[in-house]
Amino acid sequence: MAMVRALFPSQYLCMNKTKNNAQIGSKRSIQVSCRSSNQEDLLSQRQTSYNHGDEFGLQVEVEEKKVASFNGNEGVVFEVSNINAFGQSFRDYNAKSERQKSVEEFYRVQHINQTYDYVTKMRKEYGKLNKIEMSIWDCCELLNDVVDDSDPDLDEPQIEHLLQTAEAIRKDYPNEDWLHLTGLIHDLGKVLLHPSFGELPQWAVVGDTFPLGCAFDESIVHHKYFKENQDINNMIYNTKNGVYEEGCGLNKVVMSWGHDDYMYLVAKENGTTLPYAALFVIRYHSFYALHKSGAYKHLMNEEDKENMKWLNIFNKYDLYSKSNVRIDVEKVKPYYLSLIQKYFPKILRW
Ligand SMILES: [Fe+2]
Ligand SMILES: [Fe+2]
Repeated sequence: MAMVRALFPSQYLCMNKTKNNAQIGSKRSIQVSCRSSNQEDLLSQRQTSYNHGDEFGLQVEVEEKKVASFNGNEGVVFEVSNINAFGQSFRDYNAKSERQKSVEEFYRVQHINQTYDYVTKMRKEYGKLNKIEMSIWDCCELLNDVVDDSDPDLDEPQIEHLLQTAEAIRKDYPNEDWLHLTGLIHDLGKVLLHPSFGELPQWAVVGDTFPLGCAFDESIVHHKYFKENQDINNMIYNTKNGVYEEGCGLNKVVMSWGHDDYMYLVAKENGTTLPYAALFVIRYHSFYALHKSGAYKHLMNEEDKENMKWLNIFNKYDLYSKSNVRIDVEKVKPYYLSLIQKYFPKILRW
């Protein structure tokens, strides 16, 4: 905390404690209860060394914990709602509301500006991790200053969404503490919107992500706006595989720049001991063309296919926990601090 105080202007230290501490009556339309099935199917955690190299040239050795075997939805009782915080269907990009109009405008600008060259440049710049030093929890609190314009479902402070996601996962998968922490941190990359990180525009931080360097799949939301993207004029980029080879693995694919890829870099380069499945979930959780529509599967390798099982689980909680359930932040904070201590250094470079 002291480190952050030294680096941030005082106005950004106002963490909205009143909001965080309040536990307001629930209007929730989802129901979560504890998983009661036996847990002996869970594999004991084994540790192996894993080399998280990628096309960006960043190489770091981290410990990989083998995660428990995937066992479908057995015992899981997370019931999803059909209604978001605005009383509409989730991810309904055609609903006629002011919110939806601004979401469409967001995607118009995003689709024009996210190009292969832009993304390569941003990965290089932000991969230096020389903006700030702070702990994971300090970043959670910092995120309260941020609003995600691309999200048609969420009308809560970001920390509420992080904790709602993490707590919902925790109820159904009590033994997968790495997945609870993944829920907590998956959106921390949105700090790129914050003045301390250069206050990037919304289109460079949030929204669905998609590959660059190959054809834009029609399943990408508001696909029509790609016609103004300069990459559309590149013959190679407009083929199915583009600059990639079939089955090359998503690790080699350049994704649109945003909070997903940034948080992946932060976690990896700071030497997290989270299993690789966690890094995969963080990195691709907004890649809806893949996990909702099945596009770009031809670029995946075998490891990606394994990790997709966890991403599919995670996304249900990421999306459908965005209801008006309030979390008592102070009550759950000690648990998450213990997980942060287990999987991350005290202070991270951002
Ligand atoms: Fe996200
Ligand atoms: Fe999220």
